Amino acid sequence: MSFSIKKVAVIGSGIMGARIACLLASVKLEVILLDIVSPDFVDSSDKNKRNSLVSNGLKKALEASPAAIYSPSDKEKISIGNLTDDLQLLKDCDWVIEAIVENPDIKIQLFNNIVPFLKPAAILSSNTSGIPIGFLSKNLPSALVKNFCGTHFFNPPRYLKLLEIIPHEKTDKELVQFLFDFGTKILGKNSIICKDKPAFVANRILVFATLKTLCLTTELGLTVDEVDAFTGPIIGRPKSATYRTMDVVGLDTFYHVIKGLIKNCPNDLDLNLLKLPPFFETLISENRLGDKTQQGFYKKTKINNETTILSLNLQTLEYQPQQKYKNEAFNQIKSIDNLEERIKKIMNLNDKCGQFLRHLHLALFSYISFRVGDICEHLYTIDEGFKAGSNIDIGLFEMWDILGVKSITEKMREANIEYASWVDDLLQKGKHFYQVRNGQMYYFDLTNRNYLPIEAQKNIIVLSRFEDTLVWNNSACKLVDIGDGIVGFSWQTKMNTMGAEVIQGLQKSLDIAEKNYQGLIIANNGQNFSAGANLGLIFMLAAEQEYDELEDAIRQFQQTMMRVKYSSVPVFVCPHNLCLGGGVELNLHAHKVFAAAETYMGLVELGVGVIPAGGGTKEFVLRANAETHPFEVDTNRLRTRFLTIAQAKVSTSAFEAIDLGYLTEYKDDIIRHEVSRVTIAKRNMLALLEKGYVSSSPLKNIPVLGKPFMALCEVGIEAMLEAGYATEHDAKVAKKLGYVMSGGMVSETTLVSEQYLLNLEKEAFLSLCGERKTLERMKAVLTTGKPIRN
Ligand code: NAI
Repeated sequence: MSFSIKKVAVIGSGIMGARIACLLASVKLEVILLDIVSPDFVDSSDKNKRNSLVSNGLKKALEASPAAIYSPSDKEKISIGNLTDDLQLLKDCDWVIEAIVENPDIKIQLFNNIVPFLKPAAILSSNTSGIPIGFLSKNLPSALVKNFCGTHFFNPPRYLKLLEIIPHEKTDKELVQFLFDFGTKILGKNSIICKDKPAFVANRILVFATLKTLCLTTELGLTVDEVDAFTGPIIGRPKSATYRTMDVVGLDTFYHVIKGLIKNCPNDLDLNLLKLPPFFETLISENRLGDKTQQGFYKKTKINNETTILSLNLQTLEYQPQQKYKNEAFNQIKSIDNLEERIKKIMNLNDKCGQFLRHLHLALFSYISFRVGDICEHLYTIDEGFKAGSNIDIGLFEMWDILGVKSITEKMREANIEYASWVDDLLQKGKHFYQVRNGQMYYFDLTNRNYLPIEAQKNIIVLSRFEDTLVWNNSACKLVDIGDGIVGFSWQTKMNTMGAEVIQGLQKSLDIAEKNYQGLIIANNGQNFSAGANLGLIFMLAAEQEYDELEDAIRQFQQTMMRVKYSSVPVFVCPHNLCLGGGVELNLHAHKVFAAAETYMGLVELGVGVIPAGGGTKEFVLRANAETHPFEVDTNRLRTRFLTIAQAKVSTSAFEAIDLGYLTEYKDDIIRHEVSRVTIAKRNMLALLEKGYVSSSPLKNIPVLGKPFMALCEVGIEAMLEAGYATEHDAKVAKKLGYVMSGGMVSETTLVSEQYLLNLEKEAFLSLCGERKTLERMKAVLTTGKPIRN
């Protein structure tokens, strides 16, 4: 049977249902969102009142921050209804997702009610976090039972990349594959296939990891602050680490999950042997449940009118000021950018952090070794679930690989910790759980007891996996051959900023690509694509008044961008997550952009008191012209572009980046499955090369509006100043921006060249770097990470 999905119904408009509906609408599917009739209006005949529960649920999701939907206009795709009056709306839905209360009887009753309204080929799935899928399927008619499975989204569904697909015994295998591909390609998820076991994959591992962490906290006499410092970004986990996450989830929710899991997994001895420390039950009995009751492991309070966060003293159960973990070696490791390096060092640290992490991870490694084959087929599923389900940067098998499979097994034996016997089989065949061969990722397969390629990642190009085909590198950048005449450029710096080394690396890569290859793809695997030019360097040169060097740095940046734009081979750029300032300028000069759906783009230079001077301001003038006619200028369009830079607008998705003009709808492409961006870029590049690629040359006849546009900018800026929306310095910087975008004080519709506009950008930038208030702004961002308005 072949499946297709155009219209989806989501039942339940609570936290998950309404947000799942938003995600589906974001990928342009038609969505029906249903819930029970609002209990206050069961006797009312007013449709709006009867639907008030579902409409409020949707409203909350649409107002959520960060946004649950890619673009506000996508909400038009969602219609609402209730489960009493509107079940006929289900009749042409291809997929019905149940996301109602976590109660098996209520879920089964709902299925009984809706089944008569479903079309024969409909797919039905449950978003349950842990009720066995086989159990939920028990009353379904035989025609539907094979089209039923679990589809477990994680909260918030737009941002957490995991989709667990849980077939039961009778689920059609083709459906499982179909949903896996649909989840990956259309919804952009990292789909995994789980066995129908309690809590499935991600939560099963996370719950064990959390419980073990709680137990070790007590055993080793650690504090809440210490454990959160040890289990946060330093080991690739989110800042909220352990206890802060628990406050967000709710201690009661965690308590129910853990109790349920222990009850449903009597054979999981590792889990059953762990006991929740007494402080946990005390907090629950005192209704200190976390954020929902304003206190849990942390508590917000006001001291001298300032909001302060206190943390719980686990001995006295009183709140006290947070205490930073002070250890020089720990702090040094914390500042290392490379996660693998950090992990190796922190695990060997001779202090309580090292001791705690060693204990924790030996237990975790043991646990996951027994879960492969039990809760999922393959070891990589456990890593993917662990990472994508909680925004963690590294999987547990990946971590074990880094620390050395053999040496960890030795440590486990020494500590009398068991691990599954297949790990010893692996050590007969190789050294690691994963291997990279010819850019492809292999894993150790338990059934074959040998290495096999990861099916879902077959043909996926990840630049960091091409170590064997390194063409050139410096300490920040790498150029690798990714086959078929294409090279891939990537870089790794703090926040992936673009300093001198990256610019030199890019120039060298362009030389090589133009000489020996047919195309260049720029991407990286950092947490963020790029925070922009290296502000630290600019600040240092500006503060020391090294204006010649500063001028040279800007010139180099501009020339490199122009080389990208006019290179004799096509250059594609693949941004993801944060892409600011210089990072945006690189995209603006690319021949085509393949942006991850979650790309947050902005020319934010005004926040630090300067204007975009790597060709960003120039490109905005060109793009405003291109929107009308390349040889005409439209004041309104140019004004919109001016405001986008002047207000340092940052897109909340790649879709919004199109609205803001950072991306171009008909030229650039948005890739929902972030990991596939380079693969898709390469395919497109090969198609372009097949057609024949011809490079162009710098423009010489760009019409600019000159003095009249400058006058318009000045009026607007003065109005903002008077209304108190802008400071004197904002106004000064904005006027410089207006000047450049006007093409200087020339008369209306003068023709200028790209280089002319670049020179104006450079002059404006340099003059602003001489301003004290600009230096203050830069310093604030560099020292606190936050901009100031001075
Ligand atoms: P919620 O409590 O926010 O929403 C539950 C929804 O069910 C409400 O809209 C309610 O009106 C509806 N409902 C209540 N009784 C009903 C009935 N008799 N018939 C039909 N609908 C009824 O719950 P939430 O958090 O959205 O959870 C929904 C499902 O998703 C649960 O199975 C939960 O385990 C699962 N889940 C929840 C996650 C979370 O973080 N909240 C994460 C992943 C899965």
